Amino acid sequence: MSTLTAVHGDITTQRVDAIVNAANNAMRGGGGVDGAIHRAGGPAILQDCIARFPRGLATGDAGWTTGGDLPARWVVHTVGPNWNAGQRDRELLVSCYRRALQVADELGARSIAFPLISAGVYGWPREDAIQVAVDTILAAEVQLEDARIVAFDESAFRAVQASIRSGA
Ligand code: APR
Repeated sequence: MSTLTAVHGDITTQRVDAIVNAANNAMRGGGGVDGAIHRAGGPAILQDCIARFPRGLATGDAGWTTGGDLPARWVVHTVGPNWNAGQRDRELLVSCYRRALQVADELGARSIAFPLISAGVYGWPREDAIQVAVDTILAAEVQLEDARIVAFDESAFRAVQASIRSGA
């Protein structure tokens, strides 16, 4: 990975090749980032989810669909562990980033934007969610050149910036 930057904003507006969705096992949309991506990307994304993930997606795994009406060409969906439901295996969260990077690399993506997976509805402690994201992305040996972590709120953005500075 050549560059990893923190962005304060909405992942659906990012002009990158692939954006990562914090999905759920059913892969039929939801709230948070999932809802925002389906709303902004339009019905083509859900249609592709149904066609490509008839039985959903396992926690820690990742898979791609069209980006639909988004600026991004692809959406790489991944399902984070649900802290609030007792899924506390950190390796599952690491796997989300690893698998999403692998899928994006196989697609030939050169740039990618991540949300903070599991750090919202799923309740993963934010500091650790950020640490997993930064460490896993920086350690990845992929063709991708430009990675972003997009934080929706200011305080998360500042925390991501600080973590990248100390991790780089
Ligand atoms: N752009 C960037 N980040 C966003 C956006 C957005 N448009 N909307 C929310 N976020 C942030 C949240 O503030 C949080 O930090 O993304 C992070 C992940 O939050 P969630 O979307 O709630 O994802 P997660 O915690 O992984 O829970 C997944 O929630 O939305 C449902 O269908 C989804 O069931 C799944 C579960």
